[in-house]
This record gives sequence, structure tokens and C-alpha cells, in this order.
Amino acid sequence: MLKVLILGSAAGGGSPQWNCNSSVSKKVRDGLPGTSPRTQSSIAVTSNDEDWVLFNASPDLGSQILNNKQMHPKRDLRHSPIKGVVLTNGDVDHVAGLLSLRERQNLSVYAHKRVHSVLKENSIFNVLNPDYVDRRNLEMNKKFEVKSKEGKDLNIEIEAFEVPGKIALWLEDESKGKNFGTEEGDTIGLKIFSSQNNKSFFYIPACADMTTDLAERIKDSDVVLFDGTLWENDEMATSKVGEKTGQRMGHMNNSGKNGSIQAFKDLGVKRKIFIHINTTNPILLEDSKERKIVEENGWEVSYDGMEIEI
Ligand code: MLT
Ligand code: MN
Repeated sequence: MLKVLILGSAAGGGSPQWNCNSSVSKKVRDGLPGTSPRTQSSIAVTSNDEDWVLFNASPDLGSQILNNKQMHPKRDLRHSPIKGVVLTNGDVDHVAGLLSLRERQNLSVYAHKRVHSVLKENSIFNVLNPDYVDRRNLEMNKKFEVKSKEGKDLNIEIEAFEVPGKIALWLEDESKGKNFGTEEGDTIGLKIFSSQNNKSFFYIPACADMTTDLAERIKDSDVVLFDGTLWENDEMATSKVGEKTGQRMGHMNNSGKNGSIQAFKDLGVKRKIFIHINTTNPILLEDSKERKIVEENGWEVSYDGMEIEI
């Protein structure tokens, strides 16, 4: 069996976002009923309640560890249940937490070679001392066992695959045309298996489009954690906090004919759960009409501390 712990259910910036006074951020900050704060995008997975693998390492990792006792050191003067980290892209909300894992603790870090190359080019990540931190390439479309730095099987297997997306915001290069230099491997999705019973779930926190290949992969699956960033493509503009559309940021919106609710309609997925939710998205408010629509369509809205058994 796998246990999944949602460490951070919000998109980059969290909810409330530090500088945001849009309706959701404000209500969450004011602690209104039906709201709860959410930290930035990360989940943790275990097969034995002892060793955990992080999927993405958010800038909020310090408080996420503090707030979830499963993540606390358990024995010896130096210990962590966190044995490995798997990255799905190079966005700040997914890699900045690596800097908080720097205190001479053994760790394996798995990522697409594209993401490893940007971490390598940015010397601040040299704080991950290679004597302790082993950077391993994630091969696409090939199932493999996640192992600790010391080579211990963690009974978690992964199959990684490319999904439509975008290069990390901080690496965009306008001179490279309208995809800003995006290359294959900049955004990946993961199928995560228990090696004990082969049960699995999907973790896809960023995805710009439901391709036929992706629809085929997730069809009839048990659980999909999926990109819930925006309700509408132009929500940042209509809530007057920015100009970028979801498509421009590499995210499918939830609603409408090109949205994820529609795209999942006939896929037979048993549990559909939105994750990586932006603070402008009204589904974050329990009493909103958008939340009602989401739930009527069989979706759940993840929250920090949520636990899922696979
Ligand atoms: C995104 O998911 O679009 C990025 O995390 C944006 C960001 O880096 O702030
Ligand atoms: Mn993000």
C-alpha cells in the first residue's frame, strides 16, 4: 500500500499569496469559514510509514516538515524520514525547497536531465553536497524503483512521461520564440506504483493540454492528482492581479470546453483530485458556486495535510 500526504496543495505563491489581496487570498488571510491556508506544491509518499519520498520540494518545505509529524526526525541526533526527492519541473515552487535540504543528509534527487542541467548551471544548488546528495536522471516511459542514496529499495516505482507544458518561468527566453525555449522534458507527469501490490496513482501538477496519449494513460485509473491551477484561462486578468493566461503559464483551466473537468468526463478515473491550485481560483472557497460545480463533476479539491491511501 502507498500513503500519499499532501504537503502543499497550492500553486506557486501559496494561498494566501504574500502580496495578494484578491478575493480568495483576502478571505483565507482573514480566516473566514470555509477557507484554509495552503502552502506551495508538494506531496510525500511512503510504502512503509518510515521512509518517505517527496515529489517536488517547495519553498514552504520547512513549515511543511514542521506541520506534518510524519516528516520529523525520528531517531539519532541527525535523521530524516525523507529519503528522496522527485522533481516534475524546474519551477521555483518545485525546486526551491531543495535548498532547505542541505544539512549533510543523504538524499537521492530524481529529475529529467533538462531539470538537472538547470540545477547544475545554477551554483546555489551546490549546497547539495554530492557526498550526500545523489542526482539521478529520470528516464521517460520506463518504470523503475526509487532508491535511497544508499541504494535501499523504497518499494515505490515510477514511470515518468512528458506532458504539454512550458519551461520554468525563471528560464524563459523571449528570443527563442513563442514557446520561450521550452524543450521536451521541461514538464513531466508521473505514475507512481507500490511495488508491493502494483497499485498506482498519477501525479500531474502541471499540464497544458489533454493529449490523446495522456487520456489513454490515465483512462480508468484509480486516482489522478491533476493540475488545478486556474478555474478560467483568463482568471488572472479578470481578477486584476496579472495578465498571463493559464495557457501562457502552461496550465489547463478547470472549467469550459477546453478545461480539465470536460477532458476527464469520459475517462473513467475513479478519484479525480485537483492540486497546485492558484490563489485566484474560486474552487478554494468551500461555499463558492465553482466548488459546487467541481464536486458535482466528481472532483475533490486537495488541502494541506490531506492523506490518500492507494
Ligand atoms: C507555474 O506553475 O506556473 C509556476 O510555478 C509559476 C511560478 O514559478 O511562479
Ligand atoms: Mn507551479
